[in-house]
Amino acid sequence: MIRGGARKGPWVAAAIVGTFFVSLSITSPSAATAAEDPAVRRGREIAKAACADCHAIGPKGASPRAEAPPFRELGRRYPVESLEEALAEGVVVGHPGMPQVKMRDAEIGDFIVYLKSIQVP
Ligand code: HEC
Repeated sequence: MIRGGARKGPWVAAAIVGTFFVSLSITSPSAATAAEDPAVRRGREIAKAACADCHAIGPKGASPRAEAPPFRELGRRYPVESLEEALAEGVVVGHPGMPQVKMRDAEIGDFIVYLKSIQVP
């Protein structure tokens, strides 16, 4: 009995963790929509679509591509607003492996607002 119960332990834990992640991914978009500046949400969508293959775009986690700085730390190097002009020109930064992304002015504004919202000291 006791041994059987102990063996079940990991599976129960895995099931709980699994449920947690599933419900998290279902509930977080609507929860975010309610509380959040729409510009932040749009900016995050842009980052997710165009940048997340290589950069960590959220408040935590490592970049998928190790050389790519997490977006939350860009503000340590320069004010994130200074990216605005480069983004408008479609250059972003001439770094290897990074596709040129042209954003419209409104998208750039949203993107900068999003970047500001995630900066860490
Ligand atoms: C294919 C991978 C890839 C994608 C996609 C990508 N980047 Fe990068 N990015 C990198 C790498 C690698 C570096 C670091 C290279 C370096 O420092 O030369 C970097 C660095 C940067 C930097 C810091 C540059 C500096 O000199 O401070 C910024 C800002 C940046 N990326 C913005 C973006 C934005 C905005 C997007 C989406 C629109 C994006 N990146 C998408 C790979 C990528």
